[in-house]
Amino acid sequence: MWLFNISILLLALWAGLKLRHRKTTTTKKPISVNYHFTRQCNKTCVFCFHTATTSHVEKIPAAKKGLSLLAKAGMKKINFAGGEPFIAPFFLGTMINFCKEELKLESVSIVTNGSLVTEKFLAKHGHNIDILAVSCDSFNEETNIAIGRGKGEQVKKLYEIRDLCRKYGIKFKINTVVCRYNHLEDMNAYIERLAPFRWKCFQVLIVEGENDSAQTLRDARKVLITDAEYESFCERHKHHRSFVPESNRLMAKSYLILDEYMRFLDRTGRAPSGSILEVGVQNALDSVFWDEESFVDRGGVYDWSKDTSGCESGPSGKGLEW
Ligand SMILES: *[C@@H]1O[C@H](CO)[C@@H](O)[C@H](O)[C@H]1NC(C)=O
Ligand SMILES: *[C@@H]1O[C@H](CO)[C@@H](O)[C@H](O)[C@H]1NC(C)=O
Ligand SMILES: *[C@@H]1O[C@H](CO)[C@@H](O)[C@H](O)[C@H]1NC(C)=O
Ligand code: SF4
Repeated sequence: MWLFNISILLLALWAGLKLRHRKTTTTKKPISVNYHFTRQCNKTCVFCFHTATTSHVEKIPAAKKGLSLLAKAGMKKINFAGGEPFIAPFFLGTMINFCKEELKLESVSIVTNGSLVTEKFLAKHGHNIDILAVSCDSFNEETNIAIGRGKGEQVKKLYEIRDLCRKYGIKFKINTVVCRYNHLEDMNAYIERLAPFRWKCFQVLIVEGENDSAQTLRDARKVLITDAEYESFCERHKHHRSFVPESNRLMAKSYLILDEYMRFLDRTGRAPSGSILEVGVQNALDSVFWDEESFVDRGGVYDWSKDTSGCESGPSGKGLEW
């Protein structure tokens, strides 16, 4: 009898453990990851938190290993960002091919400032890119220069990239950071002509925990705008079908960010996790805070891959926006 009892007890214990294990592995899934694989970028945008000088980029085999681990843990979408991702075109090209062809991710996107994007690259890799997002904060080049982006040829480049995206079947997106310098601008005519599939307008934000330069932070404070100013910008532009506002409140802590050492960044200002290559994905996720819930809230249903053949919501029905 006691033997029986003990086996029941063991069974219960085992079941309990298994359940707990299941729980921890199912609650945190890195569905959508922003991989900032390089910090390198020549520019010094006033609001950028990425102006650190380290130039580390993971070796290709290690980066592939890391991405495989993430895919195993549930990643469906990856966004390559920087710094400026096109500063390392061979790395970038190899990674997007790997993500589509080997890992079969639903969505691969890149955020770029545009200036180093070439037709050669898009001809070669376009079939593996779902979305190309180009940052453009102003259609007035003087404003771009004041913000710290560009030398005055950004708008022209934007049209070129839009045409290349059409040619190679890539969804063209524009990202705009609304700040003190551009919040009064009327961008309607340009957006009309460029016709991006999505135009995301972020309210300028100070990111804690990315505080690698007191200078950057001071500058960013100078360009902050009030919620009312941001809303008035949104009012002026919200009639575009592509328009997606993202205010301070929404965006703050909901991005899952992997840095150039494949560490997750903590979204509350604490230290980053260990590298997923050393501690594994689950441990790394458990050691940082990121607001998975508001990621889901912000979510919205959004066509994040391009091969949707008329059905705009992708193979899994609906995706979560990043
Ligand atoms: C984009 O980034 C590259 C690399 O840092 C830089 O040389 C270029 O001037 C930048 N262009 C714009 C428009 O910011
Ligand atoms: C950085 O900027 C300088 C001058 O603008 C340029 O000559 C150089 O090629 C840029 N470096 C990279 C890596 O883009
Ligand atoms: C931010 O920078 C300041 C000044 O360098 C430093 O004292 C502070 O600890 C930093 N905060 C974080 C969260 O890194
Ligand atoms: S171009 Fe992008 S990464 Fe470079 S400084 Fe500006 S915002 Fe930062």
